[in-house]
Amino acid sequence: GSHVVKHFGENTPHNITVVDNLSSGFKEAVLYGEFIHEDLASTGKIEEIFARKKFDAVIHFAANIEVEESVRKPLKYYKNNTVNSANLIDISIKHNVRYFIFSSTAAVYGNPERIPVKEDDFKEPLNPYGMSKLMTERILQDAAKAAENFKYCIFRYFNVAGADGSLRVGQRTPNATHLIKAASQAALGMRDALYIYGTSYNTSDGTGVRDYIHVDDLAAAHRAGLEYLENHDSDIFNCGYGKGYSVKEVIAAVKKVSGVDFKVVETSPRAGDASIIVADNSKILEKTAWKPEHDDIEYICKTAFEWERKIKA
Ligand code: UD1
Repeated sequence: GSHVVKHFGENTPHNITVVDNLSSGFKEAVLYGEFIHEDLASTGKIEEIFARKKFDAVIHFAANIEVEESVRKPLKYYKNNTVNSANLIDISIKHNVRYFIFSSTAAVYGNPERIPVKEDDFKEPLNPYGMSKLMTERILQDAAKAAENFKYCIFRYFNVAGADGSLRVGQRTPNATHLIKAASQAALGMRDALYIYGTSYNTSDGTGVRDYIHVDDLAAAHRAGLEYLENHDSDIFNCGYGKGYSVKEVIAAVKKVSGVDFKVVETSPRAGDASIIVADNSKILEKTAWKPEHDDIEYICKTAFEWERKIKA
């Protein structure tokens, strides 16, 4: 969210309002616009904000995002990700919002039937997190069909990573579980080791494979999505680079950019994890104006590592 605010603030004339409960974010990361501290579950308060501000567009990021936690606490995910999203969609339609951009996830596919995976391919989430997002996608599609002048763009994020190149914003959430963040922290001595969750997957080296996308490119996709909706119908797009890296390849990249040969421990797989997820991104490249600029695993790892070093200091 903070990277999208930065992108819109720097590149567009839009008036921005940020609504966040700060459960995992930080107010200082909001570089542009008005900030309102509120929780989506407080629907009355959210309605008041919508009545007062008269938004043209809503970009909805708010969600819990950890696969393993969702297996342990499914209702947390269905309530926050699905129920709160349904309420937000309802409020948006009632208050004449025209464009709704929704952060969905590659986790809706489960273990894809083919790699790279296309938007229309079979979807069978392996965990409550992926299902909570897939249910919201469906709610949004059905609500848009029944509404007038309301269009949506669904972005299925692949593995978001890295930080702002000039290190103004990045991920600060305590105890984050992301691979590249964890590896950067291991390189900085903030973790005793990097644990590899599973080495017997059906992949080139047995470790999980993901499509890592730099957060600034993902932010730029939201602007392309909003501009797309001005002249096109609602649509769904994969957001990835179309390239997969294994856990071991990512570790090698973080070791290279950090110059630290940190300790790596192989352990058992994490509940709910897919083996391999890589995007077919031809649809977003062909239909929208999005042009990725940071399709480079070393740049992604370098910005992530430098950000981690900055916030540690
Ligand atoms: C991430 C997102 C999820 C999104 C998905 C899309 C987060 C917290 N998760 O999940 O919301 O839907 O991408 O593909 O943003 N790994 C290790 N050791 C670690 C950490 C991770 O071996 O310490 C492995 C995992 O088993 C996996 C890979 O690294 O194979 C990536 O894991 P992670 O960065 O946690 O992201 P995902 O679970 O793929």
